[in-house]
Amino acid sequence: MTRIPLNHGAGKMPALGFGTLIPDPAVTVTATQDALEAGFRHFDCAERYGNEREVGRALEAGLAAGGIPRGDIFVTTKLWNSNHRPERVPPAFEASLERLGLNYLDLYLIHTPFAFQPGDDQDPRDQNGNVLYDRAVTLLDTWKALESLVDHGKCRAIGLSDIGLDELKAIYESARIKPSVVQVESHPYLPETELLGFCKEKGIVLLDFAPLGHGMKPGLLEDPVITAIAARVGKTPAQVLLAWAVERGTALLTTPKSAARAREHFDISPLPQDALDEINRIETRQRLNEVVRTGVPGFIPQGR
Ligand SMILES: NC(=O)c1ccc[n+]([C@@H]2O[C@H](COP(=O)([O-])OP(=O)(O)OC[C@H]3O[C@@H](n4cnc5c(N)ncnc54)[C@H](OP(=O)(O)O)[C@@H]3O)[C@@H](O)[C@H]2O)c1
Repeated sequence: MTRIPLNHGAGKMPALGFGTLIPDPAVTVTATQDALEAGFRHFDCAERYGNEREVGRALEAGLAAGGIPRGDIFVTTKLWNSNHRPERVPPAFEASLERLGLNYLDLYLIHTPFAFQPGDDQDPRDQNGNVLYDRAVTLLDTWKALESLVDHGKCRAIGLSDIGLDELKAIYESARIKPSVVQVESHPYLPETELLGFCKEKGIVLLDFAPLGHGMKPGLLEDPVITAIAARVGKTPAQVLLAWAVERGTALLTTPKSAARAREHFDISPLPQDALDEINRIETRQRLNEVVRTGVPGFIPQGR
């Protein structure tokens, strides 16, 4: 399994990550255990997903059953938009840690660069349904609070999610502890080439979400270039897309919800150069998730 070294000696991140954005609590538990059993060692969580407790329970049981030490897995969670005020960061972090049943995190991300009105309402809106943003805190203020968590040894690395290149550059320039990871939507229809170039130059890992295009149809899994390569190399379209992401030097998140899917997603192998070239030549461009423009999640199930 490919493990990518993080900057400033913060360990290695397995390139294949299991994302826990799963609406059903029972499925969260079984899918997390199936992923662990299939070989996944990188788990991506968020306070906004509302299921850190289920993920924590599944990991505790799975590690015990498989005799897997905590140090073999890499766990990330994310600070939500309504907790950007610096004084809210340590309690939000500790609450996530408690729900996950862990005593340190491998990676803590700012979920989006948008600060919402501080408080316990994760989706604060005015009477007209417009999001209430918090103009009294900057992203750098929040970043400095994350730096303190690293200073105190509570998390090994910090990073950002749903961020554009200009905002990333601004944080990178001002940060005392540089971002280790940037998590954004990325796939052959949204290769984020410029962002990836900056990340590679600065030793930041680009972590793709939606590498399968959120499974939307029609979409990447049915793209003729991808299906033709899959037939040629004897892999599934999903395996081709995941292999492409790893070979271009990114890490990725996928969310298999059954044991068979977990095994399929974990079983990837290098693609021949001509296949990589063909995928790189795809010209379709499509962003599927608008979270990067508003901070409002595009794919969070309602009612949680
Ligand atoms: N930072 C952010 O703002 C953000 C936003 C979104 C997601 N994320 C993270 O990224 C993770 C991955 O996102 P994602 O799960 O949406 O991305 P994805 O892997 O691109 O899409 C998952 C979808 O693909 C389908 N699928 C998976 N394997 C398939 C196969 N072999 N054949 C056909 N369909 C297949 C799934 O269907 P089934 O449901 O039938 O399995 C599901 O609908 C999330 O869990 C979360 O951790 C982060």
